[in-house]
Amino acid sequence: MKTQLLKPSQVLQAAEIIKNGGLVALPTETVYGLGADAFNPLAIKKIFIAKGRPSDNPLIVHIAQFEELFDLVSDVKEPAKKLIETFWPGPLTVILPRLPHVPDEVTAGLNSVAVRMPSHPLMRRVIKLAETPIAAPSANLSGKPSPTKVSHVIDDMDGKIDAILDGGDCSVGLESTVISFMRATPQILRPGAITVEQIEGIIGAVEVDSAVLSPVKEGQTIESPGTKYKHYAPNAKVIILDCSREKFIDFVNANTNSEVAALCFDEDIRFLKVKSISFGKEIDEAMQANRFFDSLRKFDTLPNIKTIYARCPSKSGIGLAVYNRLIRAAGFEIKKL
Ligand code: TXA
Ligand code: MG
Repeated sequence: MKTQLLKPSQVLQAAEIIKNGGLVALPTETVYGLGADAFNPLAIKKIFIAKGRPSDNPLIVHIAQFEELFDLVSDVKEPAKKLIETFWPGPLTVILPRLPHVPDEVTAGLNSVAVRMPSHPLMRRVIKLAETPIAAPSANLSGKPSPTKVSHVIDDMDGKIDAILDGGDCSVGLESTVISFMRATPQILRPGAITVEQIEGIIGAVEVDSAVLSPVKEGQTIESPGTKYKHYAPNAKVIILDCSREKFIDFVNANTNSEVAALCFDEDIRFLKVKSISFGKEIDEAMQANRFFDSLRKFDTLPNIKTIYARCPSKSGIGLAVYNRLIRAAGFEIKKL
């Protein structure tokens, strides 16, 4: 299949492809999404094939106007309503009881559906012009880092989908915060740019699913199917070193060989004797979020790197979201020094 690269002025073409049951990679403020008509099961099936995504992992449905929420969900309780009013449009996904006509292909047969209203103007125009909500997972091959630049989407999806709408670089750089309202206490299933602190400031205490910070154990009930799969992995093995800058530099420099590289902060680079890629300043978690996936993808362009030692981000604010993605990229391999 020939994949068309569409310019921002070609939003109408992107919308036409979606309307006709095709697949278009679309820019959002978080990461690029691989979009299809949420009410067209055949189109949705193509998403899973293009990504190589397990069919039991449900998709987020993207809307452009509040009214569209009521075409998808049966009930919006007060806390969910408050969060929606505060953070939409933006990087927040809510999981609510679904209406029966939402295709099983989207929800993986669950009794809930994930919905988000993105703030990216191009994405919103495509949804409006397509006149349908758009189901979209991140537009990467399953298991690879999420795409934050159009070049990442081309690397993973060229030849597999109908078109890619070029919207430049994504401003947030990590996927949305996912919060479920399917139980008495709201539960954060995936941290993102809307932080736990911000959410608790609006609706009070929430639970943070144990899968945010630790691997899913055998036999454990899984709230979010996505948490059980390997994620974001570059070709080399990632090992997180949880320690001070000094200890990190000493350890990496003592274990240097041509197959070792470092994922570090800006301030570390000049002290390291191995190939190093920074994902931002140590104190700037928003910058780390923004550069994280691009940095991971850059390691795949370095020849013969087998091990990547990574600095550990802080776990507060949006740092928790960066840490959540990093521990998955590392397959939960963390060394405390
Ligand atoms: O920022 C984002 O959320 C991006 C952009 C494109 O909007 N999308 C994204 O989609 O990250 P995806 O498919 O890569 O991640 C969606 C996550 C998965 O972990 C999935 O298991 C979970 O949300 N999810 C979707 N529907 C769910 C549901 N009904 N119940 C529990 N988890 C759900
Ligand atoms: Mg994804």
